[in-house]
Amino acid sequence: MNNRFTIVAICASLLLTCSCCADKQQARDFDPPIMGWSSWNYFKTNISEEVICGQADALISTGLADAGYIYVNIDDGFTDGRGEDGRIRIDTTKFPNGMKAVADYIHSIGLKAGMYSDAGDNTCASLNVKPYGLGVGLYGHEVQDCKMMFDEWGYDFFKVDNCGGRHLDLNEQEQFTKIAEALAQCDNKHINFNVCRWVFPGTWVREIADSWRTTHDIWVDWGSVKTIIKENMYTVAYCGDGHYNDLDMLEIGMGFPPEVERTHMACWCIQSSPLVVGCDLYKMPDYSIEFLKNADLIAMDQDRLGIAAPVVQKDGEVYVFAKDMERFYGPKRAVVVSNLGDAPATIDVSLQALGFEGAVKVYDCFSHSDREELCGSDYFTLEIAPHDSEALFVTGKRIEKSVYQGEEAFLNAYTEINDQDYEAYRRPYEIPSPRYWESPTADLGLYATLLGGWEENWLEWQRVYSMDGGDYAMTVRYACADSRDMTISVNGEDVQCLTGLNSGGDLDWQEVTAKVTLNKGWNAVRLSNPAAPMPSIDYMTLKKFE
Ligand code: GAL
Repeated sequence: MNNRFTIVAICASLLLTCSCCADKQQARDFDPPIMGWSSWNYFKTNISEEVICGQADALISTGLADAGYIYVNIDDGFTDGRGEDGRIRIDTTKFPNGMKAVADYIHSIGLKAGMYSDAGDNTCASLNVKPYGLGVGLYGHEVQDCKMMFDEWGYDFFKVDNCGGRHLDLNEQEQFTKIAEALAQCDNKHINFNVCRWVFPGTWVREIADSWRTTHDIWVDWGSVKTIIKENMYTVAYCGDGHYNDLDMLEIGMGFPPEVERTHMACWCIQSSPLVVGCDLYKMPDYSIEFLKNADLIAMDQDRLGIAAPVVQKDGEVYVFAKDMERFYGPKRAVVVSNLGDAPATIDVSLQALGFEGAVKVYDCFSHSDREELCGSDYFTLEIAPHDSEALFVTGKRIEKSVYQGEEAFLNAYTEINDQDYEAYRRPYEIPSPRYWESPTADLGLYATLLGGWEENWLEWQRVYSMDGGDYAMTVRYACADSRDMTISVNGEDVQCLTGLNSGGDLDWQEVTAKVTLNKGWNAVRLSNPAAPMPSIDYMTLKKFE
């Protein structure tokens, strides 16, 4: 405990330094993804006041807090059922001073504190470490629990799981919305809300949560990291305006070799995922601390645009992700090139695919220096070891994006929750929700499918940019095994209905071209058919008429 006093002093100075970060943050319209630590990955339910306060101290002593990791999130395992008054009881063998004392300590050293619960009756620990988690979920106690955790105890972040929700077969959209409404009733108006239900929940989640998990739990295994990276190749359209896909807690510092940690950190950062460290902070290898504190990658993650990066080029198992930084269509882009394969690979990264022409400047986010050898041609060559990644800032003259992939489009009815979702959208059972699917026949290996058939099931590229506005040839690469129709709309106006499209097979791709007029700046380009299924969409290209 003694060193906590020193730490309070250090923190006072840290808070002073941080007031300038706060100024900078005011320049943005929304909060960046959260950064911090969580108890689950390493400690599971073996948590206590000592563990949590000790890890909070370690965020400061390792310099991670200074780098931006300021949330200390308590996950499952602090409860001991509910009392007769309906109030959650705390496990006082682990938390003898209660949960408010822990939040107070965390706040006293300048950090923020996070809480955990479940949308249903039980939390997820109830599945395998009973009695933890039985009867302590939010269901039926939404307002009572939220007021206790956020007004009485003063926590700042809320992760809400769904094991109890699944157990009760709740309609998730309704229940998570009810929880968001309970949070809105708290006097504490700065609660960061994370929905954790292990797949992309549905576009409704953007309306109620700051972030949401998109996959099952991460673990210390390359396959797990790779699966999460691949699944988030098609969640790009849902990230924006302060709402983020949560790729799950970081396993950095849990025993991965450096190349996997580079990929892990770089991919989480280019997707603007929350960065929540999951290891025992007292047991991290030095290289892990270095990756976590990498200021360039943190800048990529916390960038004020708050967007995720689509794949812009693919060669075998090497994927190139790129996103704007600092300013839409400004000169600087973040680029991550990841070799997800098991053999060394070489890739020629196309500047055109990255959105540039002419000379570019390439800066390496791992060595923190310029890579002059990569400049001077219309492509640059990278050799990448298996499971490794390069992370770069590329600066130069921008060109208009001309290829918009199906997998980076916003699918309005997209959800990976099946059964309850049918009810949520009140649509007939026989119509499945739209999906992004993998196929080697599709450009970059992915396409969008199961579109159309009811009013809400449309696809839209919501950030189509035209430097000067004007008339374009829009070519759509589509596939369907029977005759189908779809309407192209631009900025809410129907432009053309393409009828009788039939490519002869579900994966036999064909092209169709229509003329569209784009405004200068941003445009939304939609494909829809409320009455009948649409073709699958691989991509669309835009070429300006001379
Ligand atoms: C899982 C969740 C984990 C952790 C765990 C707690 O459902 O995905 O991140 O919170 O429950 O029991």
